[in-house]
Amino acid sequence: MAKVVEKKAGGKVFSPGRIGKLELRNRIIRAGCFEGMCPEGCVSEELIEHHRAVAAGGAAMTTVAYCSVAQDGRAYGHEMWMRKEIIPDLKRLTDAVHAEGAAASIQLGHCGYFASRRTIGHAPLGASRKFCLFRLSFPRVMNEHDMANVREQFAQAATMAMEAGFDAIEVHAGHGYLLSQFLSPYTNKRKDEYGGPLENRMRFPASVIRRVREAVGPDYPVLVKMNTTDGIRGALEVDDAVEVARRFEAEGASALVPSCGFTAKTPLMMLRGGVPTWMMAWNQTNPLQIIGLLLFGRFMVQEYKFEELFLLENARKVRQAVNIPVVLIGGVCSVDNMETAMNEGFEFVEVGRAIIRDPDIVNKMQRGEVLASDCDHCNRCVAAMDKGGVRCVALTKGLKPRKK
Ligand SMILES: Cc1cc2nc3c(=O)[nH]c(=O)nc-3n(C[C@H](O)[C@H](O)[C@H](O)COP(=O)(O)O)c2cc1C
Repeated sequence: MAKVVEKKAGGKVFSPGRIGKLELRNRIIRAGCFEGMCPEGCVSEELIEHHRAVAAGGAAMTTVAYCSVAQDGRAYGHEMWMRKEIIPDLKRLTDAVHAEGAAASIQLGHCGYFASRRTIGHAPLGASRKFCLFRLSFPRVMNEHDMANVREQFAQAATMAMEAGFDAIEVHAGHGYLLSQFLSPYTNKRKDEYGGPLENRMRFPASVIRRVREAVGPDYPVLVKMNTTDGIRGALEVDDAVEVARRFEAEGASALVPSCGFTAKTPLMMLRGGVPTWMMAWNQTNPLQIIGLLLFGRFMVQEYKFEELFLLENARKVRQAVNIPVVLIGGVCSVDNMETAMNEGFEFVEVGRAIIRDPDIVNKMQRGEVLASDCDHCNRCVAAMDKGGVRCVALTKGLKPRKK
């Protein structure tokens, strides 16, 4: 029988909370962590079971990770894109989550300039003609017509998510995805009214949030994940992010999830911890990329030291700037961390790796059996998502925890 530890979790963390009219049973949301369980972009039984297990494990809401709003917003062939044909399977997923007493959310995005040309069949879309180091390619610069198209794709994906029974959506406007590519001076070099000063760089992403709000009606919960820093010199920093947060609130966001990092340039910033170079190399099909990663991985993928609550300082600035709920994400590993978040005025936390490590951890925390996750942030789960689906590799292979 599990040993019951002295201190029992309590307080606000395990009390119900609200995002708009949606009531959640506690304050813990499973963060969107790409599952790698959508062969050919379709919903698999593994994906359904994965989220059912998270729901059964006590989280208040589980987030189905990156679902593109369009076929050409995908970085990989095994990423889902929202379309009518998958609604019945998504409905089975939301039904399974609801049966366990949790809510379900889905992350909707478009990856813009780092879409895979091989997957989408043409040059990716981008804010500007910025070379993508990750793909070694240039995007096609978006015109007004492309922007109107993508805006509609977001709106339609949101209404399809509602139809599939999702209780909320999370629009991805961070991590260097398309909306973040417009916000960032690193990728947005436009000379028109969509580039230059922040007001201009916000124009397209803000119009997407506005259109999504219009499409889903006044009450449907729309979370927006956004960057507080891109982690690139001269790119988006927290002062800009505070303005972006205010603007997203004004355009109809129901809650904000402040994060950081740029997938095509600083991919491990949003995670911190280990750099599983050899596993990343193993996942590549291009021999040059394999050799490059094995020889120069340490230089190609920058390492960021892991700390608990590593986004707290910047997230606090966002929280102080808006009136809607703000969700603290990044290194939330323990009941103490969650209590700190609540005391700091965050309404929810999003948890990624600790729940990948143990889907039942929320129940165990609530029962007082566990106070902190034993995930060591080796990040081998990140490499695993492209080889058989996301899981704690250390657990499944019986590996020893990495030295922290
Ligand atoms: C395996 C894995 C996959 C991830 N995939 C996504 C994703 O698809 N979309 C996203 O916004 N963040 C993604 N993330 C980042 C998490 O949502 C979260 O921001 C990050 O893991 C920090 O939270 P944690 O310290 O609780 O793990 C991923 C993280 C992991 C570990």
